[in-house]
Amino acid sequence: MVNGFHGKSMGAISVTGKANYRTPYLPMVQQVEHVTYGIAEEVDKAIREQHAVGEKVAAVILEPIQGEAGVIVPPDGYLRDVREICDKYGVVLIFDEIQTGMGRTGTMWRCQAEDVTPDIMTFGKAFGGGVMPITGIICRPDMWVKELVDNPFLLGSPTFGGNPLACSAAIATIKHMIDNDIPGQCRVKGEKLKTGLESLKNRFPELIEEVRGVGLMLAVEFRSTEIGYAVAKGLFARSVITAGTLLNAKCIRFEPAAVLTDDIIQTIVSRMAEAMHDVAQREKSE
Ligand SMILES: Cc1ncc(COP(=O)(O)O)c(C=O)c1O
Repeated sequence: MVNGFHGKSMGAISVTGKANYRTPYLPMVQQVEHVTYGIAEEVDKAIREQHAVGEKVAAVILEPIQGEAGVIVPPDGYLRDVREICDKYGVVLIFDEIQTGMGRTGTMWRCQAEDVTPDIMTFGKAFGGGVMPITGIICRPDMWVKELVDNPFLLGSPTFGGNPLACSAAIATIKHMIDNDIPGQCRVKGEKLKTGLESLKNRFPELIEEVRGVGLMLAVEFRSTEIGYAVAKGLFARSVITAGTLLNAKCIRFEPAAVLTDDIIQTIVSRMAEAMHDVAQREKSE
């Protein structure tokens, strides 16, 4: 998808959708077509046209919510429609849940919110409990064809693949998430944080364009990159670290750990109010 992000290794960056990241690596894996995110018909059209010219289409890959693009939540029904399109053409559907997964968006996986099951799913980040470097891939049983079962090394044999220490941390994380309803906590705490950020939008409409996101995957879009940068800087000076979207600070992301408390949510919002007040004053005096 255009603006999608899947990582910076050769295959991952090939399907990533940002010129700034891709251009330095060109040429890369060929026969990748990027389409506009959030419009299912774009996927249908791309597959239809590839087939019309005699090409095969292996898979469609997308983030259920685009993270690095600035927390872009697609319209309701988008994932379901893409699922139907993939089924219609016999194309594999891959969801990259590396950022959305493990409870962050209020359900263990974002695809559950729309009741859509991909054929392949990738996951990482919180999978290691925030401390252990581990990522994973899961796919439907019928995709484990005999060739792969007999020769699992075909999928790769990285030095640290299946590392027992990392795997035990991931298993403990899954148990902790289920036992403590971490997805539910993300939902409830996310609503509180979002309400706080929205109150800042109402107070500073000349600075904030939009607050969006689900659970603890939230973003604030500012009216300009300069404003976003100044607010992020003001937050940093007040010990609140946010994430830009790697390319600029027009949109900053709030993706705190699920263990944050109500007090910390209040602190974040009040420190952001201070930072925004400073920026608003500066804008007025210029
Ligand atoms: C959706 C998504 N996919 C993939 C990645 C890259 O994962 P890794 O750092 O494990 O290569 C990221 C990292 O931010 C991501 O947000």
